Amino acid sequence: MSYQIAVLAGDGIGPEVMAEARKVLAEVEARFDLNIEYSEYDVGGIAIDNHGCPLPDATLKGCEAADAILFGSVGGPKWEHLPPNEQPERGALLPLRGHFELFCNLRPARLHTGLEHMSPLRADISAQGFDVLCVRELTGGIYFGKPKGRQGEGEEEEAFDTMRYSRREIRRIAKIAFEAARGRRGKVTSVDKANVLACSVLWREVVEEVAKDFPDVTLEHIYIDNATMQLLRRPFDFDVMLCSNLFGDILSDEIAMLTGSMGLLSSASMNGSGFGLYEPAGGSAPDIAGKGIANPIAQILSAALMLRHSLKQEEAAACIERAVGAALEAGFLTGELLSADQRHNAKSTKEMGDFIANAIREGV
Ligand code: NAD
Ligand code: IPM
Ligand code: MN
Repeated sequence: MSYQIAVLAGDGIGPEVMAEARKVLAEVEARFDLNIEYSEYDVGGIAIDNHGCPLPDATLKGCEAADAILFGSVGGPKWEHLPPNEQPERGALLPLRGHFELFCNLRPARLHTGLEHMSPLRADISAQGFDVLCVRELTGGIYFGKPKGRQGEGEEEEAFDTMRYSRREIRRIAKIAFEAARGRRGKVTSVDKANVLACSVLWREVVEEVAKDFPDVTLEHIYIDNATMQLLRRPFDFDVMLCSNLFGDILSDEIAMLTGSMGLLSSASMNGSGFGLYEPAGGSAPDIAGKGIANPIAQILSAALMLRHSLKQEEAAACIERAVGAALEAGFLTGELLSADQRHNAKSTKEMGDFIANAIREGV
């Protein structure tokens, strides 16, 4: 099969981890006889520097012509002085999600064998492991609601965002969560703030309606504040966590860190027709960019999600996941996963990419 991928590496650690994902993809292409063509485009801060805007027309057209987008990360201190709508995040990433109606965001987090001691969880809790899928609504809620802006002057100046959800938007993401639960441990935890927010009251109502079509799946509701703490106390009790846009954003950083690092969490953002944008859940990590020490695994696992969900190449996706598991189980780790006294053993971004690519070549 032959595929066209738009590669948008972006800023900060984006290009560093993207290089490793490309290396790994080249190995699965050879092993599974895939023909993937890549076209690279500027996005985010680098696009502002080179073309004067974060999402140039050529980038958007390139994405439209592709079967999927492999995305790095955007943003950084260099562009934070710009008006909000012209910054990389709000000027490129959110418009891409909106343009392609990528309403369904999957962020899978599990505690890998070998990483039990790298998790900040208490030892008796991490010993039980966990495997959580965050299903996040990605094109609605307070991120996209209108009106949004500022008005007034002096001490009376105010800013406002609108949280808004339609039944249709809630229903389509809830269905995805229930379907995903069917293929897993059969449980959906819907995260909301129904004791305060009108959006959450509607969210609960619609989720209950959808649940009727999935009698084999258990549904529970939990408030977002409680969810953040129950995840620390008993992460193993959660299977699929269904979240609105903002709550899913917050919970996904938490579940990433529970696995040991932000650099492990992959993310698939999809519309209803198989098209998707695949990116690490973390950002451009300005604090470590340019040092060659970022963990490329989130980017590599995002490439695996792309193979699975948009390219329908399950075997190649599973092979990448096995190779990543092999690195982690072997204790082959980048520095942020190690305690200070172990950090002299840290592997570089490139060493990690090489290890995973080699594992694939050697038949993992
Ligand atoms: P961040 O995720 O970039 O960094 C948070 C922490 O996690 C940092 O200490 C960083 O070093 C660490 N980290 C993240 N990825 C890592 C990796 N692969 N390996 C090792 N450590 C890693 O979040 P932030 O600092 O809040 O944001 C930095 C910039 O990135 C901001 O401009 C933000 O808007 C942007 N951002 C972009 C995306 C995206 O493009 N999808 C996502 C989140 C944040
Ligand atoms: C993420 C990021 C984005 C979000 C930002 C960069 C707009 O944090 O993908 O988790 O909030 O969705
Ligand atoms: Mn986030």
